[in-house]
Amino acid sequence: MQPLKGLILSGGKGTRLRPITHTSAKQLVPVANKPVLFYGIEAMAQAGIEQVGIIIAPETGDEIREAAGDGSRFGIDIEYIVQDEPLGLAHAVLTAEPFLGESPFVMYLGDNLLQGGIVELVASFREREPEALILLTPVHDPQSYGIAELDGPIGDSAGGGQDALRQVVRLVEKPSEPKSDLALVGVYMFTASIHDAARAIEPSGRGELEITDAIQHLVDEGMRVEPHIVQGWWKDTGRLQDMLEANRLILDNLDARIDGELIDSQVEGRVVVQAGARLERATVRGPVIIGAGAKLSDCYVGPYTAIGEGCTVTGAEVEHSILLAGSSVCDLDGRMESSLLGRNVTVRRGERQPRAYRFMVGDNSDISIL
Ligand code: DAU
Repeated sequence: MQPLKGLILSGGKGTRLRPITHTSAKQLVPVANKPVLFYGIEAMAQAGIEQVGIIIAPETGDEIREAAGDGSRFGIDIEYIVQDEPLGLAHAVLTAEPFLGESPFVMYLGDNLLQGGIVELVASFREREPEALILLTPVHDPQSYGIAELDGPIGDSAGGGQDALRQVVRLVEKPSEPKSDLALVGVYMFTASIHDAARAIEPSGRGELEITDAIQHLVDEGMRVEPHIVQGWWKDTGRLQDMLEANRLILDNLDARIDGELIDSQVEGRVVVQAGARLERATVRGPVIIGAGAKLSDCYVGPYTAIGEGCTVTGAEVEHSILLAGSSVCDLDGRMESSLLGRNVTVRRGERQPRAYRFMVGDNSDISIL
């Protein structure tokens, strides 16, 4: 049996997470202080995949190369594949064809997070040998995803192996009138037959070669496409609310560990304080992660907050938020919550009179003040 390769899609534009993604790849935005992309790489490594290709865009590729390197820190080999334009997920597969060759492969969207990894899915794909294995999960807003119609009732999804016995009838990318609520999760397993399928399809209404259409082509050709309903949670972190939710889910499984310094501070619940962080007269109620070198004083940090490396929080209250490296929140009257701060952002109460809001804010920012 040929070894499985891995393909992680880390190109694209990231328009929905602007302004953060004006300056940084959306796959590098951290969830619980670790770039989203790394969760996918680790899932591949854990499943025993040794060769992983990462699709990158010319604009953000260098940053991704720098972050993930040659893969040795994950115990795998990484090869970078530049996709000149984000012309769709199936186009990304075709771009990677020289790397993939005839190998079967796992494709993982670089902004997706899947609880529980892919070890069992890979085992099922190897054992049952379908042309493609797709993962599905019910969603509330099916218009935002690729949607699958299966034959038979959607009934007992806890059946695991039972899902594979269902037939995929139709797959539609972001349908305006969805026929089901089963979304395609951004993790797919393919044999090399997907290359011909990707070549056979036409660009969609949004001008992209859709992987959803390529899989539909496999179905139309009578090839075996097996559905698998995911049991744990799954998140596409493309939007702010999803990002905060992913942060919450990952922090929920945090193992408490204090390596930093606590002075007159109170820490409750699942809290990680990384080495070199310093807390003085701070109250921290987990789940919370505080990155290396962060300085917290006279403050409250509430549940589901990830404070990045070298951040400062002083005289302020922060909850359910993500602060990227080097940001500061100082002397606020009200509590900051459900917020995502980019790198080196400062939010503080000004000292100048008259008392007024003063901003220097990048394009496409979103500020809400009561
Ligand atoms: O998240 C699951 C959804 O992902 C599926 O339900 C949809 O069927 C699938 O089309 C996809 O939809 P999105 O619109 O969310 O895909 P997005 O444009 O966000 O791209 C997903 C990842 O692939 C992201 O990390 C960027 C990367 N990408 C995207 C395109 C269009 C590339 O590397 N190259 C590309 O050309």
